[in-house]
Amino acid sequence: MHPLIPAFFFLLGSCCLQDTEARQYDSNLTVPNGGPWGTWGKPHFCPKGYAKGFELKVESYQGFWLFGDDTALNGIRLLCTDGTTIESSVGPWGTWTKAQLCSSSKMVSFSLRVEPQQHLLDDTAADNVMFLCSDGTQLVGQGLSEGQFGPWSGKCNSKAICGLQTKVEEPQGKGDDTALNDMKLYCCD
Ligand SMILES: *[C@@H]1O[C@H](CO)[C@@H](O)[C@H](O)[C@H]1NC(C)=O
Repeated sequence: MHPLIPAFFFLLGSCCLQDTEARQYDSNLTVPNGGPWGTWGKPHFCPKGYAKGFELKVESYQGFWLFGDDTALNGIRLLCTDGTTIESSVGPWGTWTKAQLCSSSKMVSFSLRVEPQQHLLDDTAADNVMFLCSDGTQLVGQGLSEGQFGPWSGKCNSKAICGLQTKVEEPQGKGDDTALNDMKLYCCD
């Protein structure tokens, strides 16, 4: 692919997607092991209700570095109980996995799987995520398996997760791309 094509879709995605109406939230959930690259997208919220499930945008293994530049996780979508789907910043690579849903209909915490910094080798940053449902079920995403899952974020004190914000690195042209690096979730009553 021409190096400018992903950059074009990245800019299109960050400037022109419809903005989900901001919503009153009462806390946010973060993890300490997010990757260092990228910029935070805007927070997006379920118009009503809570997040009951998710989908991940994952780029499969591209092969050996110098031949392929891996980015692993590129995007996270939340599926809301009101039927809407929301996303914040999303990288240009990969395809969306099948939806994974809590049978209790609410998610309350998450953990991010992040590859440690590779220095001269190919970095990917975040490559998978898992969510905790309010009934205690853990949903492990269908991402990749470099690195390790970090500690769980805090848990919503109020009802459940209702919004997300993701940190994505802009396409680096001929440089090493990592796409999604970190995520923050919002809890609502
Ligand atoms: C997230 O929560 C922390 C405290 O838990 C707070 O200091 C911070 O301002 C919150 N950030 C946002 C964007 O609400």
